[in-house]
Amino acid sequence: MEKMIQKQYCFTFSRLKQYLKQIRHAICIINKDGRIMEGNDVFLQVTGFTYKKLIGQPFQFVIPTYRTIQQLYSDLYDQANNNQDTPDEIFYLDTMGHRRKTNVMVSQHDSETGPVFLIHFFDLIKDSALSLSQRMAQQLTSQINLGVVVLDLQANLVDISDKACEILGMESQDILNHHVNEIFDGISEEHRLIQPELLEGIKFQNRAMSWTNSKQRYDLLVDSNTLLNEQGKIVGAYVMFKDVTNMRSFEQKIERSDRLAMIGQIAAGTAHEIRNPLTSIKGFLQMFQQSFIEKGMERERTYTEIMLTEINRINSLVSEFLLLSKPRETQYQLVELDTLFEEIMPIVKGEALLHGIDVNQQLTTHLPIVVGDTELLKQVFLNICKNGIEAMGDEGALTITYNYEGNNKICINIQDNGPGIPGYIMDKIFDPFFTTKDDGTGLGLSVCQKIIHDIGGQIRVSSKGYGSTFHIILSHI
Ligand SMILES: Nc1ncnc2c1ncn2[C@@H]1O[C@H](COP(=O)(O)OP(=O)(O)OP(=O)(O)O)[C@@H](O)[C@H]1O
Ligand SMILES: [Mg+2]
Repeated sequence: MEKMIQKQYCFTFSRLKQYLKQIRHAICIINKDGRIMEGNDVFLQVTGFTYKKLIGQPFQFVIPTYRTIQQLYSDLYDQANNNQDTPDEIFYLDTMGHRRKTNVMVSQHDSETGPVFLIHFFDLIKDSALSLSQRMAQQLTSQINLGVVVLDLQANLVDISDKACEILGMESQDILNHHVNEIFDGISEEHRLIQPELLEGIKFQNRAMSWTNSKQRYDLLVDSNTLLNEQGKIVGAYVMFKDVTNMRSFEQKIERSDRLAMIGQIAAGTAHEIRNPLTSIKGFLQMFQQSFIEKGMERERTYTEIMLTEINRINSLVSEFLLLSKPRETQYQLVELDTLFEEIMPIVKGEALLHGIDVNQQLTTHLPIVVGDTELLKQVFLNICKNGIEAMGDEGALTITYNYEGNNKICINIQDNGPGIPGYIMDKIFDPFFTTKDDGTGLGLSVCQKIIHDIGGQIRVSSKGYGSTFHIILSHI
């Protein structure tokens, strides 16, 4: 029975450590040999020691006036039993060797490593006496979703909020009371989030910075300033940062759509300007060609033929420009996917044959009817097949499959076994003019995306190192 009760009060060391973290005043654990085993962040803050420096030291390092921990415990226990009204006061030492007075309470507990003593230092943060602004400062470093770091005059980090620890990817006990240069050792100076120069009065507001810890990249807005005493002398500095990663990616999306809109406008203007003179050039060339034929001038006739072909190429490029910039002008029709593929497969196969590429078309059963624009949809599938064929070079296979997704959706998958799309260009391939080909315009996919989006569909791509698959998702009836 006795054993059972004892077991109830026996704590594991990790549980005690956890408990210390939740306590808002300074507290430390001393083992039966009088060595400091653990101290919470507040304890490190008020004593000014680093975690490494403190742990394993005899407790006299901080509380010098007692010979053994057992003596300290029994002294305070006696005082408490004498029904003293005032709490027990002892002296403790900070890093500068200053003797300071504080109220304490000591309790003894059983742990897996034997008896341990918890020393609570009460008035070091006396909650009831906190002014509102002190409370605010305390909240800033504990609960608020803001990274806060406070430096002393020597550029040691003396306080840090939970959010700042999370963003830095560091544990507070590993960095509290350490010099900033030590904390950011190994990181080039311009990338350090906190620099000792802050103490020279360099302040900034809303500075955009990025920070990458071992797990994640953050976009931050950083404020920093010095802390002054009553005489206006610098006594420290603070840095506050807000995580704006989500906002930043939203801004990037807006920037992208702004850029696309601008490109669209330029494209529309330029396309018209190009098309008009082209029409007259084409007309005159056709007249020339006619006269060359009549006069039997064969060489000149072939030249005009080449010129006309080139003009047609420019024309089709300009049509793509216009398509990109045009506001929604899609013709909504019922499109039979069966017929559509019947019509485009000979073109795809012809192109594939030229490059020695096989085409596996697994669209055997009856495909449903979708709502869209037949000609534009043809252009989408042709463009994507063409990209796949171009990616594979001189051998490979292009596979076209389909599957149904929920909510009346059909997904057409166009898969190639080319080199795949590297991750770093993945979010650019749908941008107008983005191309990795010497003779590409970079308009193919941006036109496809616009067409599919205009009819309420989706276009996705997956590429994992080997081959790429474009998925076109459409609503069917
Ligand atoms: N199946 C694919 N495999 C590998 N990379 C691809 C594939 N499809 C597209 N890409 C990449 O995306 C880029 C953009 O494609 P997009 O069709 O928009 O332009 P393009 O093919 O380069 O030029 P254009 O279509 O005018 O001939 C390509 O240059 C290529 O780098
Ligand atoms: Mg293309």
